[in-house]
Amino acid sequence: MRRAIYPGSFDPVTNGHLDVIERARKLFDEVIVAVAHNDEKQPLFSLEERLDLLRETAGRIANVRIAEFEGLLVDFAKAQNAGAVIRGLRAVSDFEFEFQMALMNRKLDAAVETIFLMPKEEYTYLSSRIVKEIARLGGDISSFVPACVAKALNRQFAQ
Ligand code: PNS
Repeated sequence: MRRAIYPGSFDPVTNGHLDVIERARKLFDEVIVAVAHNDEKQPLFSLEERLDLLRETAGRIANVRIAEFEGLLVDFAKAQNAGAVIRGLRAVSDFEFEFQMALMNRKLDAAVETIFLMPKEEYTYLSSRIVKEIARLGGDISSFVPACVAKALNRQFAQ
């Protein structure tokens, strides 16, 4: 069984994440979309909300499973018997951090390979951070995130 982990904060999931999930699931028997607790990043959505939004948007896709993890990613990958970590690579600006993380993960566990997938060009400028900012300032985010995520964001900023 070829299993991969697609880890992230998913605060919240965007169409770019969903595009990467679609690409990854064609390459592996199972893709575990793993939401990091990441409390130090002070996410807008709670862990349970981030998981719920993922379950609603990607939970019913065949060979995709939604999970959460705490601690080191390589430990989670090992516990799940996954040989690969998927990361989306949008632009050169992503590269430095992603390169550092991939090599550090390899140092921590040489058995876990990082695979970078490029989302559709139209999503290369998309990030959860920018979507949150646009939503906070009252802009239209409907083409960047699924409808349930847009609703959750608008609810957050309506208060
Ligand atoms: O969506 P993000 O915020 O870019 O995801 C980052 C994430 C969650 C993949 C990364 O912070 C992570 O792997 N955290 C788990 C802790 C860990 O293993 N740290 C060492 C990685 S070099």
